[in-house]
Amino acid sequence: MLLLEEKIKTAGRVLNDNVLKVDSFLNHQIDPKLMNEIGKEFAARFSQEGVTKIVTLESSGIAPAVMAGLYMNVPVIFARKRKSLTLVDNLLSASVHSFTKNETNEISISNKYLTQDDTVLIIDDFLANGEAALGLAEIVRQSGAKIAGIGIVIEKSFQPGADKLKEQGLRVESLARIASLTNGEVTFIKEKVEELI
Ligand code: G4P
Repeated sequence: MLLLEEKIKTAGRVLNDNVLKVDSFLNHQIDPKLMNEIGKEFAARFSQEGVTKIVTLESSGIAPAVMAGLYMNVPVIFARKRKSLTLVDNLLSASVHSFTKNETNEISISNKYLTQDDTVLIIDDFLANGEAALGLAEIVRQSGAKIAGIGIVIEKSFQPGADKLKEQGLRVESLARIASLTNGEVTFIKEKVEELI
């Protein structure tokens, strides 16, 4: 998605060889017009999958997921990382380890909002080691729902997440794919010509 690549080039900052800072439009301050285009793009890519629900993880997955939900006309559920006061019964849960932050979170969704009749699109902001997406996929499977695929805003393709998801037979659609962050520079994987038309 060229618009997103341009935004990453102009507003992103390479912190080190592994981490890209995008808190001016995705992780802290949010660019609503860009999120709108991102939602439209996810909706187009998964339009043939019969998606009935979108599942994401708080907090930075919520903005792109809500815009996709708007275009696909389906509800959006965000998994929680912390226990909620009101959300205590019948939780579907998975353990997610973040290598980046070196912490493990128990993520959960109420089983009230996912059933075996659902077809779920999983959306997240970053794909690095794939732990968050794998945890979300595990929760969706616990509910008996079908997984249509995984929509990612920024994939760091030099880290193992995308391959791990594809090994499980999951369709992964990443709107920007980063080949490397070395020398303080963002290098994207070149998309095939037909994807740019
Ligand atoms: P994984 O889920 O693919 O295994 O990734 P990892 O554990 O490495 O990522 C943990 C958190 O760090 C996630 O946010 C993820 O979005 C974020 N992250 C990973 N790589 C980058 C990066 O290069 N840049 C930025 N800005 N974030 C990165 P989170 O803990 O869920 O935070 P949030 O959603 O509350 O913002």
